[in-house]
Amino acid sequence: MLAGKRILLIIGGGIAAFKSLDLIRRLRERGATVTPVLTRAAEEFVTPLSASALSAQKVYRDLFDLTDEAEMGHIELSRAADLVVVAPATADLMAKMAGGHANDLASTLLMATDKRVLIAPAMNVRMWEHPATQRNLATLQGDGILTVGPDEGDMACGEYGPGRMAEPLAIVDAVSAALQDGPLKGKHVLVTSGPTHEPIDPVRYIANRSSGAQGTAIARALSALGAEVSFVTGPADVPPPDGVRVIKVQTAQQMLEAAKAALPADAAVFAAAVADWRMAQASDSKIKKGPDGAPALTFAENPDILATVSQMTKGRPKLVVGFAAETDDVIAHATAKRERKGCDWIIANDVSPETGIMGGTENAVTVISAEGADAWPRMSKDDVARKIAARIAEALS
Ligand code: CTP
Repeated sequence: MLAGKRILLIIGGGIAAFKSLDLIRRLRERGATVTPVLTRAAEEFVTPLSASALSAQKVYRDLFDLTDEAEMGHIELSRAADLVVVAPATADLMAKMAGGHANDLASTLLMATDKRVLIAPAMNVRMWEHPATQRNLATLQGDGILTVGPDEGDMACGEYGPGRMAEPLAIVDAVSAALQDGPLKGKHVLVTSGPTHEPIDPVRYIANRSSGAQGTAIARALSALGAEVSFVTGPADVPPPDGVRVIKVQTAQQMLEAAKAALPADAAVFAAAVADWRMAQASDSKIKKGPDGAPALTFAENPDILATVSQMTKGRPKLVVGFAAETDDVIAHATAKRERKGCDWIIANDVSPETGIMGGTENAVTVISAEGADAWPRMSKDDVARKIAARIAEALS
């Protein structure tokens, strides 16, 4: 399934480096050619000889190795691959990548490459949760770097929590997804997902019950068909899918800016449950109880992201898909919504409490387009996502 694919594998200096040797074996079993690059710290954990023996390739180690430069320069090395994988991606390597450093072979290759990069972070749980690492992760995801893991579990350092490198087979799956030759290969799709949080003051906010499940499933299904996905998500309950470009936002205004910045795209799917209103003036300090009684909250309307993108005169995606969650007269309301917002399709669903759809695992949708209404039977949200992705692939072909 990876036959003929070339992987440049950068092995960072962490205890999980031993798993990268197994990763080389697994990738090769599936037909890939793996060229290992060891950081200096990685050599403390695995030897160049074992990496070279398992990969049956020359192992690259030093930026200033002139013999290597004569054979293959570092620029060429960074581009000869179909995908660059960093496993384990240590806190230090992630920081270097986020900061744009190029002071050794690994970081220079990562700066010079024109190929997609997939990182498998691995570090102590405290280091993973440190604000600096989380900031670097957000920067890297915003730059389009793909991630897999980390997993949660017992760690070599004796602590428990997220930070373990993803298992080699999970990394192989992420590699396959990143190299997917599906009907959406070469297409860029924007997906919004999750709720938005609108601050009242620094500690309180207005939100809604969206879990982000349907938007996440759609992003995953599009990626599985080979699309490059920009996933703009509010604070959702479910984690973002692996292998997509993740842009995390809090508010509707930030979501609009992130969606516009992600364009151009061939298609856009607006699955987010955007708060219709925000505070006209959020307070900079915590609102305190006082003698004047309860505060009066004054709202301002949020921008309509779907309508804004649908009505763009320049750079509008070829296909714009919106959602309509309704409780009565579903088809009539959703048809009117499609007209009003100017999108191509509306995926309408009945979220009346008796349907059990809101917060559930199943969905029953009707796709409304210029051709009319197409009612799909009730099925899992994952199946709805796969059908939507397939229909998008057909529309873009
Ligand atoms: N949407 C958006 N930005 C907003 C509000 C909604 O992008 N500020 C998008 C949603 O992502 C969804 C679609 O618009 O794709 C419909 O959202 P919905 O809440 O059902 O519609 P509303 O515009 O709020 O209309 P109504 O109040 O009539 O239900």
